[in-house]
Order: sequence, then structure tokens, then C-alpha cells
Amino acid sequence: MVTKNIKLDVAVVGATGLVGQEMLSILEERKFPVKNLYPFASEISAGEKVKFNGEEVTILPLNKKNIESTSVDIALWSIGSELSLEYIPVAIKAKWINIDNSAAFRMEKDVPLIVPEVNGDKLNSVKRGMVIANPNCSTIQLVQILKPLHDQYGLKRVVVATYQSVSGAGKLAMKELEEQTVNLLNGRSISKQVFPHQIAFTILPHIDDFLDNLYTKEEMKVINESRKILALPDLKITSTCARVPVFYSHSEAVNIEFRKSCSLKDVRSLLSHTEGVKIADDPKRFVYPLNVEATGKNETYVGRIRLDESVESGINLWIVSDNLRKGAALNAVQIAELICNKL
Ligand SMILES: NC(=O)c1ccc[n+]([C@@H]2O[C@H](COP(=O)([O-])OP(=O)(O)OC[C@H]3O[C@@H](n4cnc5c(N)ncnc54)[C@H](OP(=O)(O)O)[C@@H]3O)[C@@H](O)[C@H]2O)c1
Repeated sequence: MVTKNIKLDVAVVGATGLVGQEMLSILEERKFPVKNLYPFASEISAGEKVKFNGEEVTILPLNKKNIESTSVDIALWSIGSELSLEYIPVAIKAKWINIDNSAAFRMEKDVPLIVPEVNGDKLNSVKRGMVIANPNCSTIQLVQILKPLHDQYGLKRVVVATYQSVSGAGKLAMKELEEQTVNLLNGRSISKQVFPHQIAFTILPHIDDFLDNLYTKEEMKVINESRKILALPDLKITSTCARVPVFYSHSEAVNIEFRKSCSLKDVRSLLSHTEGVKIADDPKRFVYPLNVEATGKNETYVGRIRLDESVESGINLWIVSDNLRKGAALNAVQIAELICNKL
């Protein structure tokens, strides 16, 4: 939350998207000190309205001229890498402070990649015309639990498998899952536009493009971004990312090997005192993190915590977080709050 007495001109770029819509509601919810709101989207949505703080605000088409002529303090971008690469340089020249949700700038040396509870201290100076990157949704929830565990026990190796919801692929992907599910249940044929295979009732072991090393881009984002955020460039970490036919919230099975010995009781206690993390772990009562329960919440839920009996010191756990909130919009708004307190 912002405690300072300040009012800012805020742009939400991609305001009609799944992340953009969530950004608007989180800005409202957390009473972000907005003086003027400028929602941007494509030409298709220009002229339509978004609701913000009880008022209707007209959507502006994103183009060079509109960026140059709009006075903005902080801009929250969620329009994808290609468009971010095209338009953020214009916003930099116009002296906007840019928080970008795409992968376009995340691995650039001079661009801070921030999860406020984990490495908010890396945002030590804020300048007009800068870019701050919001990490990938799967990375955010992972580093939230890796950071305190590393500080306590030293990470030796991390193996993560993700089970990512369809909302992570945007609003057209949501529509595709919905339509395919309804059509299949009614014995009708289906069509595919977003995913290369039927997504309804299917697990796709494939998110984003395949690379020369046979990992996908998404898998390498989890690996490289975790290393950057934790400031552990040599961290041994590997990942497999899968898309599952659920609408909201990403789940991850995480195996972590430590350098120092650990006890289950201490791991539990450590994670239960970690900001932004909630324990849901009572197997006897069937309590563990569920995507349907994490949806709409701000915390990352952790459960199924158990010792990995195949190594000297290690654990397995299951984490779940709302990809549109902590995985995207909430984290971006929290970064904006950090900025406010530094302006
Ligand atoms: N979904 C997630 O969980 C998640 C998590 C982390 C990061 N992200 C990232 O956030 C970005 C958006 O994701 P999303 O899920 O919100 O996608 P989405 O639901 O498909 O929304 C895309 C947004 O981009 C706008 N847009 C498309 N073409 C445009 C153009 N030429 N000029 C201006 N605006 C344009 C759309 O406006 P119109 O409605 O007018 O077309 C819409 O507002 C992506 O970079 C994604 O990787 C997403």
C-alpha cells in the first residue's frame, strides 16, 4: 500500500486483457493514488470504456502519437513482448516509468526484475524513463518460496514441474477452452486457434516456442529469471512446463535439495512466516493447495511439504498461486507501490 501523500497519472496498457482488467481492479482494491487513469488497448477497443473507481474511462488506441502526447507517471504494460518492444522505447522517451509484464526486457542487465517480497531492495533508484520487468507468472510463485529456503539452508538443486492454467495464455485461450469443453460434452466437433492441440481434457507438455536445447521458452524463463531474481547465476535448476485445462491459477511440484540439513518442522515454520505465502498442509484432513481455492487470492499457497528421502537434505512441495494476481497484476501494482514510496 502507498502511505505517501501523492497522486499519480497512471496508464494501464492492455486494459481490456485478462491481466489489464485485473490490474484495474487491484489498483482500485489497494487504493493506489491515481490522479488520472489512461487505459490503452488496440484500435479495436479504442473508444470503449473501462470502469474505474465508479467512473467510466474511455480507452485510447495505443500508438506513438498517443504515448508522446499523454502525461504519465507510471505505466503498467500487459500487451506481450512484440508490442512492448515496439512501444516501450517510445514511452521511455516520453519519460514514463514502465512496469512491463512481458518477457521483452526481463533478462536485460540494466532492467530490474522484481518480486517485491523477494528482491524489492534491488529497486534502489527510480528514474523517469526507466523499465522495471515483472517476472513470468510461474517464476514469481517459485522464487517466493525459494528465497527464504535459500537464506536458511542454501539451495543445491531445484527441479520444478508446472501445471499452468489456460488464463496464462490470455483471453482468446480461455474462450477456446470454454468452447471446446462445451462442444465436446455436446458431441460436437471443435476448432483450434490458440493451442496446437485440443486443450479441453488435455495436458499439453508445451508452453511457448521450442528452443535449440529442446526446452521451451517458458521453461528457460523459469530457470533464467529465478537465477536473476535470487542473484544466483549458477543455481542448478531445471523445469518442465505444462498447460492444464483449468481456467485459473498455476500449480507447481517443486523438489529442492539443500546444502545444509533441514527439518520438516523448521521448513514449515519458515514458510509460515514468509510474507505473501500461506501454508495449506494437513494431509490427514485432505488440506493442500488447490487452484480453485487460490483463485482471487493474493497469497501463494504451499502444501504437501515432505522430506525428499532420496537425498541427504531436501524437500518436495506443491505451490499454487493465482497467475493473474500475484503472477501478474498484483506483483506489478506492488512494484508501482514501491516506486511511489521512492518518488
Ligand atoms: N495471463 C497471464 O497469466 C499472464 C501472466 C504474466 C504475464 N502475462 C503477460 O501479459 C501480457 C498480456 O496477457 P493477457 O493474458 O492479459 O492477454 P490478453 O487477455 O490476450 O490481452 C491482451 C491485451 O493486449 C491488447 N493488445 C493487443 N494488440 C494490441 C495492439 N496492437 N495495441 C495495443 N494493445 C493491444 C489487447 O487489447 P484488445 O482487447 O483491444 O485487443 C488486450 O488488452 C502478455 O505479455 C503475457 O505474456 C500474462
